[in-house]
Amino acid sequence: MADRKKINLPYLYKKYADGEPITMLTCYDYPTAYLQEEAGIEMILVGDSLGMTMLGYESTLPVTMNDMIRHSQAVRRGAPTVWLIGDMPYMTYQPCVEDAIRNAGRFMAEASCDAVKLEGGREMADRMAGIVAAGIPCMGHLGLTPQSASSLGGFRVQGRDAARAARIIEDAKILEEAGAYSILLEMVPERICQLITERAHIPIISLGSGPHANGQLLIYHDMFGLYPRFKPKMAKVYGNAGEVILNGLKDYVKEVIDQSFPQREHWFTMKDDDYDDLLQHLAESEHNDD
Ligand code: KIV
Repeated sequence: MADRKKINLPYLYKKYADGEPITMLTCYDYPTAYLQEEAGIEMILVGDSLGMTMLGYESTLPVTMNDMIRHSQAVRRGAPTVWLIGDMPYMTYQPCVEDAIRNAGRFMAEASCDAVKLEGGREMADRMAGIVAAGIPCMGHLGLTPQSASSLGGFRVQGRDAARAARIIEDAKILEEAGAYSILLEMVPERICQLITERAHIPIISLGSGPHANGQLLIYHDMFGLYPRFKPKMAKVYGNAGEVILNGLKDYVKEVIDQSFPQREHWFTMKDDDYDDLLQHLAESEHNDD
């Protein structure tokens, strides 16, 4: 959006205070970032889900800081005014507070991010507090936290029974007290999301957690049929770009084979005079070689 001012925390908090929904998507590359900026998306998460959607891994765990920095830089080039969040990859913040601060700082210094996100509740409160104390806005992430999918029993809804729901609600409070500027709730029942949103004093963002949050997030690849392995229930499909691209690729293969591509408008020409000069030049040099 050429005329949009850079989105900052006061803008996001004003929307929150005014009860206006905040728009958020994942994004991993320059051309998509350009389109999301044009569409008016306010917050972009460069998620470590790029390990699956862009790099073809089975999970997010192999993603490195260098992967994240490279993709975040590309997104920033395409979306200069969005609130850009770098997702801290596996084992870049879990070991200790110092690692968390150092790696969060890389997102800010090397990729011009506005904030970072980390997964986990009370056990990550000191990492959250350390990052925030270093002057870096940090988003929490509760519910289904993909980096812990193994201990959570897979990619499934979290907090369906009272004890686990109570724990997620307490974790949200602890993260807010530790300084989180916002919390993402992934795949928790909508009633739990509502309870957390009503109790919080910061924007709560829903990914598959219902309509009561202060904003919504979707995974871009799920919205457009671009991730072939599965389509989660929470993902609304807004268009099947994967199908459009696949049909185009099949047409290209067919046209190269049957030679209906390229056509006159797809190649470049040279003036007759210049071509004649070239032929003469070639003839003379071949004659001199004999
Ligand atoms: O990596 C990611 O895209 C995420 C979302 C699943 C929230 O963390």
